[in-house]
Amino acid sequence: MANITVAMSQIYQEELSNFRATAHLAERLAQCLRFGDIVALQGPLGVGKTTFARALIRALGWTESEIPSPTFTLVQQYDLADFSLWHFDLYRLEDAEDAFELGIEEAFSEGVSLIEWPDRLGRYLPGTRLDVLFSFAESDDARCVTIEGDAAWADRLDGLGHE
Ligand SMILES: Nc1ncnc2c1ncn2[C@@H]1O[C@H](COP(=O)(O)OP(=O)(O)OP(=O)(O)O)[C@@H](O)[C@H]1O
Ligand SMILES: [Mg+2]
Repeated sequence: MANITVAMSQIYQEELSNFRATAHLAERLAQCLRFGDIVALQGPLGVGKTTFARALIRALGWTESEIPSPTFTLVQQYDLADFSLWHFDLYRLEDAEDAFELGIEEAFSEGVSLIEWPDRLGRYLPGTRLDVLFSFAESDDARCVTIEGDAAWADRLDGLGHE
């Protein structure tokens, strides 16, 4: 897998005042996703990456009661209406090479990937991806989110800020 360098720029920024605002952004992003997309969810422990992923998976039609965090399994796969979605949490990945056993090649080529702790992939993290970067804000339930991607992503996410 080649890790090419792609010009990424800021596409979107929002202050998410509570967990519902985070879920709402995930629901809007879900409508823009398609086969082959790789979305890197970045930010510190407890910032809301899994919360965002759960809302996104729900918005794509997953109705089963539980959407587990892949904290220990490292990956969960969902067969959705339009594509398969792989949700990775690579926090506990000891060696980037181990990601191949989790099926990253299949995920990247045959579905949509949501990746928590994407830095663990090192050189295997594809350059063509969308970065969703979360940080803590002033109040307990507030977060800042910045979305970065290449020009093609910027075109696709043009309406993200609008209802
Ligand atoms: N605005 C917000 N957006 C997202 N989560 C929020 C927000 N405000 C409070 N929370 C709470 O913060 C916690 C976020 O936990 P979550 O498991 O989603 O974090 P994470 O980034 O996946 O952490 P980890 O790196 O451990 O996987 C949840 O308990 C959630 O309810
Ligand atoms: Mg998480």
